[in-house]
Amino acid sequence: MSDKYVPDQILGHSDEADGIEEYDNALPAWWLGLFAFTVVFGVLYTVDYHFISHRSQVKEYTAELEAAPKPAAVVAGSASGPEAIEAGKAIFGANCVGCHGADLHGGVGPDLTDHTWIHGGRLPDIEKTITTGVPEKGMITWGPILGPQKIAQVAAYVHEAGGGE
Ligand code: HEC
Repeated sequence: MSDKYVPDQILGHSDEADGIEEYDNALPAWWLGLFAFTVVFGVLYTVDYHFISHRSQVKEYTAELEAAPKPAAVVAGSASGPEAIEAGKAIFGANCVGCHGADLHGGVGPDLTDHTWIHGGRLPDIEKTITTGVPEKGMITWGPILGPQKIAQVAAYVHEAGGGE
């Protein structure tokens, strides 16, 4: 090693690197500048992130979750009593008889009076089935169509007339 910088000198360790030679040249000033800049930027950014702005991924995530629209509760409506059942009967007549039959004995859809429930025969089960539907089997997702109130009523009717548990 001489004190004087001599460009284009081969370092001579090709034996360690599969025959690849390397010059011992100075790095370009623009490259070194960029490198120094990233180091300084990194330090400043870290200090700012943690100690000045007090940011954190957990905080951002929590804030996003809070800002996001809440999913509608699966069972939001409630209705009971003869009036609800009467209203439910009308809703059933307008929307459901095509598949479940006017007397609930089924057709395309299953018999709702046979005391055999695929998705449960308790009132909340029936409400949930109607709300979410079983799209892959042909039962429509009624939640967005009827809304919680009408679903609660038609569920009360199915539960009553169909002999729910
Ligand atoms: C396009 C046909 C169709 C319409 C219209 C329809 N259903 Fe269904 N429904 C089905 C099918 C098919 C199933 C069976 C789903 C399965 O096998 O998982 C079903 C299942 C159900 C079940 C679950 C039965 C069980 O055994 O768990 C309920 C409750 C029900 N429907 C109520 C309704 C109500 C209330 C309406 C009207 C708002 C309605 N359905 C309209 C086709 C329909």
